Amino acid sequence: MEQRQSILRFLAEPGHVNFGGKVHGGAVMKWVDQAGYTCAAAWTGSYCVTVYVGGIHFIHPIQVGNVVELRAEVIRTGTTSLHIMIDIYAGDPKEAERRRCGHCVAVFVALSDDGRPRPVPRWVPVTEHDRALEGSAERLMELRKAMEDEMQRSLHLRPDLTPETPART
Ligand SMILES: CC(C)(COP(=O)(O)OP(=O)(O)OC[C@H]1O[C@@H](n2cnc3c(N)ncnc32)[C@H](O)[C@@H]1OP(=O)(O)O)[C@@H](O)C(=O)NCCC(=O)NCCS
Repeated sequence: MEQRQSILRFLAEPGHVNFGGKVHGGAVMKWVDQAGYTCAAAWTGSYCVTVYVGGIHFIHPIQVGNVVELRAEVIRTGTTSLHIMIDIYAGDPKEAERRRCGHCVAVFVALSDDGRPRPVPRWVPVTEHDRALEGSAERLMELRKAMEDEMQRSLHLRPDLTPETPART
């Protein structure tokens, strides 16, 4: 199948509202994950799981009653993982204009029936723009490694919170 782009489009409903009267950030994060999954599944033809969602940026609030559009596309493939860029647009359904309200990059891993990572079809950048997107995904990977190292360091500043510590109830 190997479809590179996916779009989800729907109305923001009253059930999505936060205490400030706009769409809840948690609802947007769920939609981002769903849009990323749809794109990852379409590219790989497999069940996929989210392993990372990074750099999510809420640029403008989304109003209840807006039409929301999530545009997702593959920007890098690894061996068993793929990077998906997701842009969130919203606007009044009575008007043509859609404003970009958010953005992020998520990483999914394709799983075989036994739940183990399986190879994904390779995506080869064609245009200059594609190559720039792939380069950006690769730089983000490097930045992520630095962030993870820093997270590990910060855990050691809290000896009561090492990964081995069982969660308190
Ligand atoms: C997905 C999962 C099975 C992978 O297992 P694993 O032992 O980490 O497998 P690997 O180390 O071989 O990593 C698999 C791929 O994921 C990538 N990956 C793993 N963790 C990552 C992270 N935090 N950020 C980016 N990529 C990551 C690896 O780089 C590798 O990519 P590649 O094959 O393209 O080189 C396991 O991490 C898992 O079950 N995670 C939980 C997923 C989940 O519950 N998601 C939420 C609900 S969908």
